[in-house]
Amino acid sequence: MEKNNNLEVLISRAEIAERVKELGAEISRDYHEGKLFLVTVLKGAVVFLADLIRNLQIPVEIDFIAVSSYGGSTKSSGIVRILKDLDYNIKGRDVLVVEDIVDTGLTLQYLCEYLLRRQPQSLRVAALLDKPGRRKVEIKPDYCGFTIPDCFVVGYGLDFDGDYRYLADIKIIKEEDLVKT
Ligand code: IMP
Repeated sequence: MEKNNNLEVLISRAEIAERVKELGAEISRDYHEGKLFLVTVLKGAVVFLADLIRNLQIPVEIDFIAVSSYGGSTKSSGIVRILKDLDYNIKGRDVLVVEDIVDTGLTLQYLCEYLLRRQPQSLRVAALLDKPGRRKVEIKPDYCGFTIPDCFVVGYGLDFDGDYRYLADIKIIKEEDLVKT
């Protein structure tokens, strides 16, 4: 039985697969020397990470960081906290942050400042989705899967209140359905 058929598909699994393949090729070209260190932001970016690393033609190491998210709400508070830190030292490494979506940009800005204090050799960001219409700070991912309009999306790792991460397509949750149960 098809899961959550009632939600509108914004980006299909086939489109995602195609774009992640392209991103993998682009990143592999840019980092063909040395070993890339991927810092994945839990939990929304794990599905993207899993597909991305299998589309890279270069050796990589991975680590995870968790930051405070919206909780049950869909609005960013602007206050970011590290909930789980990295296990490895990134000093002198070429670091690529793997993020699910950039919305206001507040989380990413905080995270980049935090990681830069650890003195990586370089720091870039790969975000599957970008919602530039809601940006509050000037920040732009170096690699972006899709630019999307101002709507709340779920699936392919992205959640609403902990649900829908398992959907293979990226789907839109309408404003009236964004009510915490
Ligand atoms: P920002 O700090 O406003 O850029 O928020 C970034 C984080 O908010 C993302 O990493 C997601 O966890 C969450 N987020 C923002 N927009 C969406 C959405 O449309 N669906 C699911 N999560 C979202």
